[in-house]
Amino acid sequence: MPLPIAELHLHIEGTLEPELAFALAARNGVTLPHADTDALRRAYDFQDLRSFLDLYYALMDGLRTEQDFADLADAYLARAAAQGVRHAEIFFDPQAHTQRGVELGTVVEGLWRVLGRSEERHGVSPRLIMCFLRDESADSALATLKAAEPYLDRITGVGLDSAEVGHPPAKFREVYEAAAALGLRRVAHAGEEGPPAYITEALDVLGVERVDHGLRCPEDPALVGRLVRERVPLTLCPLSNARLRAVDTLADPPLPAMLDAGLLCTVNSDAPAYFGGYAGDTLDAVRRTLGLDEERLRELARNSFLASFLDDDEERRARYLAEVEAYRF
Ligand code: ADE
Ligand code: ZN
Repeated sequence: MPLPIAELHLHIEGTLEPELAFALAARNGVTLPHADTDALRRAYDFQDLRSFLDLYYALMDGLRTEQDFADLADAYLARAAAQGVRHAEIFFDPQAHTQRGVELGTVVEGLWRVLGRSEERHGVSPRLIMCFLRDESADSALATLKAAEPYLDRITGVGLDSAEVGHPPAKFREVYEAAAALGLRRVAHAGEEGPPAYITEALDVLGVERVDHGLRCPEDPALVGRLVRERVPLTLCPLSNARLRAVDTLADPPLPAMLDAGLLCTVNSDAPAYFGGYAGDTLDAVRRTLGLDEERLRELARNSFLASFLDDDEERRARYLAEVEAYRF
């Protein structure tokens, strides 16, 4: 039985495995830019975040109908549950679909068709976090939030993703203020490729409660002190960082030092179809390459539930935390 964990940094579109991408493309009469799944897998050799994002957005073209989004979510939940995921806070990128003419309602209804039954079918409690593409305009983000109003009962929070450098968090001040006024939780990718100053800005200007990645925070010791003091969780993604060359090798992420510093780190899979592993694979990889012992792994699992947006269901959080403490490796 795998260690129980919460997945807090997972893009549902990043779980699109090549086989499903081709099946959906065939179903919808869409031609993908690669001949077959082998050719596609050979293209998973990324230089940086941008080179990954280009392929990631291209493959989404096969996602058209509610059933496509439902199939995507169902495949993810089955894999996640088999690897110990008990709670998943799932990102989606509405603009990547609405720009292609797919309605926001199609995306949310399709995902929710499966997420709404995830607990009974997969034993995974789900949340949805709607991300704005930071390389699109602030007006486009505001329009997306407006379009999401009919679906807010299914959306827990907002996030910020896509190409980071040159798109600082402050660009999205207004939409985050509006999201807060609607009672939505706030997270943002920051310090993945961008500087530590983007992390500070995400905290101060956007009011984020959790930082996605935060990998570069150790470059600013004062920021580390603040993140520790304020117990701001970081959702690290070690396989992603290695594959997108944000670090030199998988042995490089400063995770042990960050835990030693008292940072509330969690380990996540980001876009697992592209980066070589789901939640359990990721934990295995950091255990092997960084030499984490069992108590460190338990700490990461505990952190994941502490950092989750289960404030609306503390009983459930306590149950999951008890499972972590009772776990025998
Ligand atoms: N979208 C999907 N994965 C991402 C990542 N690692 N960084 C930014 N945007 C993303
Ligand atoms: Zn991400």
